[in-house]
Amino acid sequence: MLQADAQPQVYRCSNNHSFDLAREGYLNLLLAQHKRSRNPGDSDEMIRSRQRFLATGHYSPLSDAIVAAVANSGLGFDQTVLDLGCGEGHYMQQLREASNQASAGLKLFGMDISKFAVRLAAKRKIDARLVVDSVYAIPLFENRIDTAVSVFSPISAEETARVLKPGGRLIMVGPGEDHLSGLTALIYQQSLPHRGNYTGLENAQKFRLQEQIEIKQTMVVTGSDILDLLKMTPYYWHSRPEQQELLATLDTLETPIHFYLNIYQNQSN
Ligand SMILES: C[S@@+](CC[C@H](N)C(=O)[O-])C[C@H]1O[C@@H](n2cnc3c(N)ncnc32)[C@H](O)[C@@H]1O
Repeated sequence: MLQADAQPQVYRCSNNHSFDLAREGYLNLLLAQHKRSRNPGDSDEMIRSRQRFLATGHYSPLSDAIVAAVANSGLGFDQTVLDLGCGEGHYMQQLREASNQASAGLKLFGMDISKFAVRLAAKRKIDARLVVDSVYAIPLFENRIDTAVSVFSPISAEETARVLKPGGRLIMVGPGEDHLSGLTALIYQQSLPHRGNYTGLENAQKFRLQEQIEIKQTMVVTGSDILDLLKMTPYYWHSRPEQQELLATLDTLETPIHFYLNIYQNQSN
């Protein structure tokens, strides 16, 4: 698909488009004509809030479950994992650390449509191949990936099945019914039904659900982490300035976190 150019920092595709390797070590494959906005995907502010919030460890029950689900594939960490909509790379870092502890040969690939996200992920230096591109056109040949991971991100069933090996697995994380209800109660009059990213797999014949893991706990968030939590979610865009101000002055926020981790097997040959 892509070939290194005579200049080591430049890659070229079969249509003769050239792509520069960024200083941080990722490739931006989004062509201007394929972008719907100047900076698609999550904004720099959202991504930085998410990075700070995830670093607090409030979501560690989720990251532990993702790491365990990858490890329990029968391949351990000797496999190729692709994080679809990887954001700033929090879950890839957890996978890399677990694989290093197991002295395993994990090959990590990550992609996100937000260049801000991929730039921060690249700064983690976790030996991952990283690209800015859309999950609706994954820049990989078919049958390359053992496990695809999608955490609260959009997904294309067709594209994911194409790059997964036959029998490969997709670990998909989305919100449970009560996820962050302590936060949303402060923003919306009525509780909203979450549909998460599972709709992307509806009617997808190529995936068979093998297992569903539910994670439900209460977390207590304090100080500036509360605003970071708001800013890393789409609720930020729905909140009014006075609601944001109220959240900024709260000392503590107690809310359920509620996730479903669905593990699917690729049925394509
Ligand atoms: C809710 S965030 C989740 C990020 C990360 N998986 C995490 O949980 O920390 C959703 C991510 O999907 C990315 N995204 C949105 N549309 C996308 C697309 N078409 N292709 C790739 N990434 C996309 C956004 O930029 C954002 O980083």
